Amino acid sequence: MRFAPLFVAALAALVAVPALAANPVNGKKVFDDNCASCHGVDGNSTMAGVPHFAKGERLEKPDAQLLTTIRNGLNIMPAWKGMISDADQADALAYARTLRK
Ligand code: HEC
Repeated sequence: MRFAPLFVAALAALVAVPALAANPVNGKKVFDDNCASCHGVDGNSTMAGVPHFAKGERLEKPDAQLLTTIRNGLNIMPAWKGMISDADQADALAYARTLRK
């Protein structure tokens, strides 16, 4: 059919996007429960010094680097290792990436 190449390209893009095959639906729950108090439900941070994900702040960094910070913490950013699972950390990051406007 006429649209087949476009469809295949769209599918390929969908498959390529998710970070570490993370689940942004679970990520929203994890984020709202654990991260939104500082980073804001919509990614507009609620305090000075907290990155605004809605503006894409810090999201230019690769997942591996951001996941290291999520796991180990950084200054007042808490360490989530042992608090929430590695999968939940990855899901929360995948969801945070969707908040970029
Ligand atoms: C107590 C407030 C607070 C909470 C809760 C919080 N963060 Fe943060 N987060 C911060 C602050 C502050 C920074 C910036 C740290 C710095 O650069 O000094 C940050 C930075 C980050 C960064 C950027 C890391 C980097 O390497 O630049 C990511 C990604 C992030 N947080 C994700 C999360 C996720 C996911 C959660 C929930 C599981 C979460 N944060 C919960 C305060 C918080």
